[in-house]
Amino acid sequence: MKRSSYVGDLRAEHAGQRVTLQGWVNRVRDFPEQYFVILRDRSGLAQLTVEADSPVYQVAGTLKSEYVIEVSGTVRLRGEGQRTGAYPTGEIEVIPDSLVILNRATAPAFPVDGSPLTASEELRLKYRYLDLRRPEMFQRLKLRSQVQATITAFLNAEGFLNVETPLLTRSTPEGARDFLVPSRLTPGEFYALPQSPQLFKQLLMIAGVDRYYQFARCFRDEDLRSDRQPDFTQLDLEMSFVTQEELLTLNERLMREVFTQVLGEALPDPFPRLTYRQAMDTYGSDKPDLRYGLPLVDVTDLFAETGFAAFAGAHTVKVLATSALSRKQIDELERLARQNGAGGLAWTRREGQALTGGIGKFLEAQTAELIARTGVVEGGTLLLTAGPWKKAVSALGAVRTALRDLFGLAANGAKFSVAWITEFPQLERIEGDTEQGGERWTFMHHPFTGPHPDDIKLFGTSQMGEIRAQAYDLVLNGFEVGGGSVRIHDPAIQAQMFQAIGFSQAAARDKFGFFLDALASGTPPHAGIAWGFDRLLMVMSNAASIREVIAFPKNNRGADLMALAPSGVDAAQLAELGVALVGEADRQ
Ligand code: AMO
Repeated sequence: MKRSSYVGDLRAEHAGQRVTLQGWVNRVRDFPEQYFVILRDRSGLAQLTVEADSPVYQVAGTLKSEYVIEVSGTVRLRGEGQRTGAYPTGEIEVIPDSLVILNRATAPAFPVDGSPLTASEELRLKYRYLDLRRPEMFQRLKLRSQVQATITAFLNAEGFLNVETPLLTRSTPEGARDFLVPSRLTPGEFYALPQSPQLFKQLLMIAGVDRYYQFARCFRDEDLRSDRQPDFTQLDLEMSFVTQEELLTLNERLMREVFTQVLGEALPDPFPRLTYRQAMDTYGSDKPDLRYGLPLVDVTDLFAETGFAAFAGAHTVKVLATSALSRKQIDELERLARQNGAGGLAWTRREGQALTGGIGKFLEAQTAELIARTGVVEGGTLLLTAGPWKKAVSALGAVRTALRDLFGLAANGAKFSVAWITEFPQLERIEGDTEQGGERWTFMHHPFTGPHPDDIKLFGTSQMGEIRAQAYDLVLNGFEVGGGSVRIHDPAIQAQMFQAIGFSQAAARDKFGFFLDALASGTPPHAGIAWGFDRLLMVMSNAASIREVIAFPKNNRGADLMALAPSGVDAAQLAELGVALVGEADRQ
């Protein structure tokens, strides 16, 4: 290799040495009788100084941004007044005696020379290879690689086996829509891309692998948000003969290792834990951001006999105390509360020992207690929701998050707040679907999640909503960065679960027959988890979206703006697959 070092590694101690460097022209500064060429590679920048009497003066004059060049020359300490600590190579310059243009470049669609980024995200995605030349993006790719290496080393040392599972498979139930791939060899049939390797990793436990992990690509056709991609990566793992406790402890150790090794940040030992009930009740979310307090205060009891119609008979009344808010801010928060299921967002303001404005005039009987329980400051605002438990807490939970963003509440707390949320409900009622005689239920995590042993007796009763699952989520700064469960390993309980979610035996056999047969063939107790690897990196690098930590992501419409996927295909290719387009999709 001709290159003697990376550009960004040069220091004062290299003065006098000959070097050969290769990289991109970051910028050329053109002075009378002198060019300063700023050279860039993945490690950083350094200045090449080319004087009028230099053998490379002519060629230096032809350089443009993003040309790829190779230079050889001597490292020299800069003159007194020109040394700078502004960047790591600021004490030296390189005096080239040879400069070869390896490749010319068209003018970049947007500057990637370290000037403030003005390009839209759309432009950045279209020219992703340019965007990735920016040091910030390279650092994120590097972080991703380092985290992966740390996890791999840890799990290998713990006896985990890295096993790959197929991408062309059949539907795995994780609650999203499948991406389908038509089969040419069996026209009319389709593979599904895996929503996760869930069944395969359980089959590996049945096969006796005992400890499995994989960085698994998963595919889910769902509405996209800043923390979701249609194809994303999980750190997927599964263990046999362990309790929930052992699985959580191992994952805590792994996560602490990642944060100390890669970021030098200590996470708590042990991680705080909240049950689903506690998290929802106190923070109105099953993924609460615990970098700040602002708990929802329960005041249901104060309204047991209220004459205030909006709160009368409400199952749950919750209140949040915050500093003064304008009417406009309150209106926006109310809209948010409604979007999250509340009938409205009531408010009032503290004035001395009284509550005035909003619903204040209806609260005479409750005023003293509301002030005492919330500790609302003079001039501060109280925000209240009332209704069925889940709606009342979720709506105020969304308001809590909005207040975080409004007042920058997270900035004062710890950099990272991590927690386990446990004891999720096993089943979730499908709303508005009781016509067929009775309630319909679906799984909250996935249908292979083990119910809490004490609650198994509730299957088939009117209290199915009370069944707790042995399921847990890992929450970091208000994001769900992982989720898993102890699995069902008893076919009889699996059958009860299928029955609860309205799967007939025949339907269950049709979809998962192979898996049910496997379950009956000697299944060890097992448990597992999957971390949302991209999401974890998003939080670790404090990025605004998951797209910032993925080399080639899709936009919010699921499109790859660079490669232009999805795209139409030839009629001949469709015919070969036995696929015909209908209606609007048919562009022919
Ligand atoms: P779950 O569906 O909770 O569990 O997924 C695990 C984690 O994957 C991340 N995640 C996503 N990240 C980016 N884009 C998406 N569209 C997306 N969907 C999910 C989240 C989530 O916590 N098979 C089970 C795991 C198990 O039970 O072991 C599963 O996939 O961070």
